Amino acid sequence: MKEVTIIFFPEKKKVTVSLGTDLLTAAVQAGAPLVSSCGGKGICGRCRVKILKGNFETEATGKISPEDKDKQIYLACRTFAHSDMDVEILPESQLATGVTAEIHERKSPQPFLEEIEGIFPLVPLTKKFFVPLRKPSQQLTGSNLTKIETLLTQQGIAPLSTNLATLRRLAQLWRQNQTGLTVTVGERDDRKEIILLEPGDTSGRHFGVAVDVGTTTVSASLLCLNTGQTLRTELAFNRQASYGEDVVTRIVFAEKEKGLEQLHHAVVETINQLIFSLAKHAGVGLQEITAVVCSGNMTMSHLLLKIDPFFLRREPYEPIANHFPVVDAAEAGIRINPSGLLAVVGGVSSYVGGDITAGLLSVPLARKSEISLLLDIGTNGEMVLGNKDWLVCCSASAGPAFEGSGVKDGMRAVSGAIESVEIILKGSKEEVKVITIDGQPPLGICGSGYVELLNVFSARGIIDRSGNFVVSSHRIRECPEGREYLLVEPEQAGHGRFNARCG
Ligand code: FES
Repeated sequence: MKEVTIIFFPEKKKVTVSLGTDLLTAAVQAGAPLVSSCGGKGICGRCRVKILKGNFETEATGKISPEDKDKQIYLACRTFAHSDMDVEILPESQLATGVTAEIHERKSPQPFLEEIEGIFPLVPLTKKFFVPLRKPSQQLTGSNLTKIETLLTQQGIAPLSTNLATLRRLAQLWRQNQTGLTVTVGERDDRKEIILLEPGDTSGRHFGVAVDVGTTTVSASLLCLNTGQTLRTELAFNRQASYGEDVVTRIVFAEKEKGLEQLHHAVVETINQLIFSLAKHAGVGLQEITAVVCSGNMTMSHLLLKIDPFFLRREPYEPIANHFPVVDAAEAGIRINPSGLLAVVGGVSSYVGGDITAGLLSVPLARKSEISLLLDIGTNGEMVLGNKDWLVCCSASAGPAFEGSGVKDGMRAVSGAIESVEIILKGSKEEVKVITIDGQPPLGICGSGYVELLNVFSARGIIDRSGNFVVSSHRIRECPEGREYLLVEPEQAGHGRFNARCG
């Protein structure tokens, strides 16, 4: 089949695909950061690109106006390459990638850790022990492994299993090293295992990473596993966003050929990117990291472990597993010490995952008599109500409900998004003032801007408590306070602008 080459601007990402491939698929293959909230169904209108060069065919869609067409602007998922092409991803359709923010570089333990100390003592997934070297001729008897096990038992670590790779290294290290060995012991579901042997004493440098795998944002913290101290935290956008913004769209994408593989690869690469950045900035080697613990909603957990999420959205709406075994991190593609372990926090059901159970562990809600409410408002939102005797939880789509799927001109909180709205008095007239992220010209409105807009419009009587407009969006009408407002739809005022004036 004939192939064509497509270059995506502004990052100049190049890809060769079969003739007739849609531009969204090509962009994903090229690694070009293109928003696709609906996963390529042609519904959301977010994947806007400008054709700079080349022949193509495009399907008619109400999401593209005649003015857009005049400017050669089309939806990537509805446009098909018929020759080599140059394509520009428009600013509002560019997906932010990379490490987006460093949150903390901590020198002391976090307060909440101190608060729960005693209830949850520090029990890391891996522990390091220094074992002084004994030559085979010394008092201990038995095999080299037996001697190590005996020495570890004397330190209170038993019983133990090990693996073939460790055994292959053992005899050589035992005889070569003059000072001793550092033994890393991992815990797999209450079973202790020697996972790593290193020459000398490296027990003072022992690190792990805790990852919050969000549908939109992934947050990772580097911890010293000897003290529990959080050294540094960084954030990145989940690269899976190229395949759809909400979990259901991603589950649907996973059903496509190689879809599960692509989604798994995308989230693993996001995590690897964060671990690499954390380690680099904290002066820690990747080989010094032996444990990673991830929590996420059930869809994220399945995709991270490359487990088919098909039944999460189909009757009987059951996950493949609520609890996941501890696995070799390398098996899941996580790049730390090749002998390191990965634990994924278990959940309760298809839409009550490890993110909310991890949240519950970190707050005292389930240990108090008083009834409390825990809200986790992410792309997927959960809330738990209860106390030490009972807990009830529910979940619903949250982020995309504001920023993608249902709101015209909704967008994520990135540069150009309206994040704040207020009505100001100009002489005898009132105007809506918007504040955008980075002070850029408005491209759309993000969740916090939308909530504030509802609050401001509600307080001024422009909308009622149900969110319905008290005034028509196109006509001047009397408001309860006797003022008149003219609300202009975004298209009439230029793309992405919210305008209002009163007279
Ligand atoms: S319209 Fe193209 S991804 Fe939604």
